[in-house]
This record gives sequence, structure tokens and C-alpha cells, in this order.
Amino acid sequence: MSFTSLLSSNMLPEKYRVMGRSKMEQRIHEIKGKLGDKLFIPGHHYQKDEVIQFADSVGDSLQLAQVAAANKKAQHIVFCGVHFMAETADMLTTDEQIVYLPDMRAGCSMADMADIYQTEEAWGELQKLFGDTMIPLTYVNSTAAIKAFTGRNGGACVTSSNAKKMVKWAFTQKERLFFLPDQHLGRNTAYDLGIPINQMAVWNPIQGGLEYIGNVEDVKVILWKGHCSVHQGFTVSNVHEVRKKYPEMTIIVHPECCREVVDISDLNGSTKYIVDTINAAPAGSSFAIGTEMNLVKRIIADHPDKHIISLNENMCPCLTMNRIDLPHLLWALEMIEEDVQGNVIKVDPDITKEAILSLDRMLALA
Ligand code: 13P
Ligand code: SF4
Repeated sequence: MSFTSLLSSNMLPEKYRVMGRSKMEQRIHEIKGKLGDKLFIPGHHYQKDEVIQFADSVGDSLQLAQVAAANKKAQHIVFCGVHFMAETADMLTTDEQIVYLPDMRAGCSMADMADIYQTEEAWGELQKLFGDTMIPLTYVNSTAAIKAFTGRNGGACVTSSNAKKMVKWAFTQKERLFFLPDQHLGRNTAYDLGIPINQMAVWNPIQGGLEYIGNVEDVKVILWKGHCSVHQGFTVSNVHEVRKKYPEMTIIVHPECCREVVDISDLNGSTKYIVDTINAAPAGSSFAIGTEMNLVKRIIADHPDKHIISLNENMCPCLTMNRIDLPHLLWALEMIEEDVQGNVIKVDPDITKEAILSLDRMLALA
């Protein structure tokens, strides 16, 4: 978060902690009504129901980046998601539009696994090994500074919705791919495109070295050693247990799950893919879902005609996504109403200039 201006304290004022739910909902309705289309609230699928009820657009990371880029009307964009999503929205909107994150502590632990200093160091070391044969691709779950690094080195962003398309494109540009920060999305995507596991190395940012057994000349993909702590919680034994108990069930997982889990599941794709697949399935079908719990619970509630469970019933929600709640949403909206510049996400203009290159390359192909 170092390149972002934090224009207010992170602390939720006490009055919001004690306000009743119906009062908060009533105030949010009032402010939304008053601001009309000057206000836009995008909400990621992983947000809680109490927040999603107020979202003007609900979607996956790619959809939310696209709606942010398309919206030229809203002066205030209150992003209900995590920090990297709000940064992306800020970079894709005009200078007159202001992006707010209702709780500045809503980060993404995966995005935090790659900082720009480690990334520059890795790039330097990898260039000694591979010369000018690599192109960087960064999952949008990364800081604006990493997106800028990617942009200035000829690379692009990817989301879980377009990762295959973007990896294919990357190989039209260079012989090797440097994929960060999620090793699992990178590995799953490259494997699906026919790249064998023994042609993938892992860059360990803590040790500052390459993890690979074999001749480095054979390496096609270098994966940053990052992961999502939520999706890494789905295991091979979860899949075996579901298969044993409900042999007819379709197991559908997010590609942030590890290779072993994706390999023995039936389907994998972005949050939008999961939602669309279950929406399109006939009544009576059954699914075990390997993704974040707020979304799984909403899908279960939306489909009483289907048998749906979480692939791991003990999974907890994404704790940082969960930080956006009714009190924080109302707080953000009341600051806008009172013309107080609080919880604003503003990416440094020099970072934006280069990061936009990597976002635009993705959006042009998406
Ligand atoms: P989607 O792009 O599939 O919405 O995923 C974002 C994310 O953070 C998943 O953990
Ligand atoms: Fe980040 Fe994982 Fe939460 Fe997605 S689910 S926002 S990748 S920590």
C-alpha cells in the first residue's frame, strides 16, 4: 500500500459500532438515493450479503475492472472488495472520479506476497539466467507497483477469467513466462495449455533463488512462490471425502487451488465461471464448491432446487474481504455526504502510467 495516499484514519468511529442494522440500512438507502448516479458501488462476489445488497454491479475481478473502466458518470466509486481491486479501479477511471475503500485494512494476503523490491531483484537474477527471453504476467491480485513493473517490461495483467488467453498471448511475445504472484493460477493455466510440470520452476522470494531440478534451459514458466491462504485450504482429501460421500456430485473449484486439487476436480474457473455454471445447471444437480465461503453460502441460498455444499465445510471466509461490512460502508458513504475525503485510494501517477500499460494489454484481449 506504500504508493497509495491514505487520506484518513483507518479507525471506524465508535458510533457505527453501536448503530442498529436497520438504521444503517436506512441511511445507506437514503445516501444512495440522494447521490443517484454520482455514486457507484461495485461489489466482488466474495463480499458479505449485507454489503452485496447495496452493490450496483456484482462480479469477478475482470468484470469489476471492466465496469470501472466503462463508468464515466460516477464521481464517487465506493469499492466493496479488496485493496488491489480499488487500486485497479482508480487507475482505470478519470482523474475527476474518486475511488474509496470502506476499510483500508481490506488487503489481499496473496497480493502482499510479492513486493516490488523482491520482484526487481528476482527479475535481475532471472535475467542473468535467461537473458531477454522472459515476459512478465501478473495476476490482478497484485499491487499497482507490480503491475507497473509488468507494464514497463512488455507484460500484461491476467485474471482468473482470462488467464489462458493471456498466457497464450505471452508465448507469442517471448519464449519464457514469469508469472506472479500466484504460483497455483500460473501452474494450473500453463499445465492446461500443455506445458509439462517439469518445465516449470518456482522463484522463492524469501530465499531469493530458483527452485528447479533439471537443466534450466528447459524452463518455460517461472512461478512466483505466492498463494491464496483461503484456496490453499482445499485439499486432496477434501475431494476424496466428497467423492466417497456423494459420488454423483460435480466438484468445481477456483484455479487458485493447488494443482493436485484442480487435477482431480471436475471443473475449475473464476468466480464468474462458478456462478454461471451453477446458474445454468438443471434443478436437482449437485455441486461441491472450492472457493470463498461468502460466495458459496450465497450460491447455496440462491439455488434451493440444487444440492450444493462447500468442498471443505470448515473453510472460513476471506478475512480481508470480510472487513468490508455495513458499518464501514455507511461510514464511507457518510464521509462522501459530508464532503470529507476519507478512505480514498489514489495511486501515484507515475506508477499508474506504467501499470495502465499492463491493464490495457489485458483489457484489449479480454
Ligand atoms: P476472481 O477474479 O475469480 O473473482 O477471483 C478473485 C479472487 O481474489 C479470488 O480469490
Ligand atoms: Fe486474496 Fe485469497 Fe482473499 Fe482472493 S480469497 S482476495 S486471493 S486472500
